[in-house]
Amino acid sequence: MNAVADTPVTVSVGLEGRAYDILIGANLIEKAGEEIARRIPGVRAAIITDDNVASLHLKRLEDSLSAAGVESTAIKVPAGEQSKSFEVLQTTVDGILAARLERRDVVIALGGGVVGDLSGFAAGIVRRGMEFVQIPTSLLAQVDSSVGGKTGINTRHGKNLLGVFHQPKLVLADTAVLDTLSEREFRAGYAETVKYGLIDRPAFFEWLEVNWRNVFAGGQARKHAIAEACKAKAEVVARDERESGDRALLNLGHTFGHALEAATGYDGSRLVHGEGVAIGMALAHRFSARMNLASPDDAARVEAHLREVGLPTKLSDVPGELPGAEQLLNFITQDKKVSRGALTFILTRGIGQSFIAKDVPSSEVLSFLEISLPR
Ligand SMILES: NC(=O)c1ccc[n+]([C@@H]2O[C@H](COP(=O)([O-])OP(=O)(O)OC[C@H]3O[C@@H](n4cnc5c(N)ncnc54)[C@H](O)[C@@H]3O)[C@@H](O)[C@H]2O)c1
Ligand SMILES: [Zn+2]
Repeated sequence: MNAVADTPVTVSVGLEGRAYDILIGANLIEKAGEEIARRIPGVRAAIITDDNVASLHLKRLEDSLSAAGVESTAIKVPAGEQSKSFEVLQTTVDGILAARLERRDVVIALGGGVVGDLSGFAAGIVRRGMEFVQIPTSLLAQVDSSVGGKTGINTRHGKNLLGVFHQPKLVLADTAVLDTLSEREFRAGYAETVKYGLIDRPAFFEWLEVNWRNVFAGGQARKHAIAEACKAKAEVVARDERESGDRALLNLGHTFGHALEAATGYDGSRLVHGEGVAIGMALAHRFSARMNLASPDDAARVEAHLREVGLPTKLSDVPGELPGAEQLLNFITQDKKVSRGALTFILTRGIGQSFIAKDVPSSEVLSFLEISLPR
């Protein structure tokens, strides 16, 4: 049965010559064929998706495309981060070429951030760059990874080290597909949503404090939260597409977060990315208070909200053993360029007042980690 699509919210990403729309609304998958055919007449499509998402949502997308006269081939990859690899990139690229798609045909990513990053990369390199459409199906992908054009895979040297900037032609965020996402994955994406409030939208943070239950439940509040997040990300991307300045603010919570992901061996059963970011954001606020940059009340308020929705906020919330402070600091410095013992961090002067701090002494970070670790 076809559900009725509600009126979507449109957020535009204002990149000169490559501007595109993000449409946000329930059951948008039903309108995907029509929206794509209108923007790229006569197009054919390769849908890249993972096994989980394929069994839940692929059929509706295929039906919508064929109703709009868009011929499509589906390429399924295994679910999980391991699919951001050379091997899976090869299968994906082979599938697109075997379907005899041309440069003006479209690669459609139907899935979470893994599928989005992998398919965007494939779209960016097959025939030197094909059309690309994102249909993100995880909350993280809807508020973060599907917007902004970063694509890529992992190598044995580290995460996301191989890729291209390749902007999509259209992003369709169907807020109803999130109903099938696990609560844990939803919460992880919620952490990235809160992040935009903490960076520079204090009113959005306040709104989330009041309305988060409705965001989890679905409906208009969820649509509003995703639209606000996309607007925030779109603004940053339009200002600084290639991260030469401001875009770094989007890394709030990520320096600590990445170190924790590395320290837990990227084992999703212990910590998923958004959980690392939640702990990282709480730590960034506490650290800012300790450096007398912000009031400890703001740090407490951020922590209270994250805890209320069920996100972790402390190093002791990570299940299993964590390495000591020195070792955690090593993970942090591996993640970034270190100049004379100084680190770049996203710190804050209070809720919604984040800034790029370029010369944070690593000795301060070390002593902060020491007091933050469980004894
Ligand atoms: N390109 C960027 O700017 C950017 C930004 C942030 C993160 N990322 C990347 O995004 C990836 C993480 O994305 P993610 O958290 O979406 O992970 P993911 O793609 O692995 O999805 C998480 C899990 O949810 C499942 N899933 C997705 N949608 C579902 C749905 N509607 N119903 C049921 N299950 C569903 C997936 O199959 C998977 O098992 C990482 O690789 C990260 O590097 C990229
Ligand atoms: Zn993130």
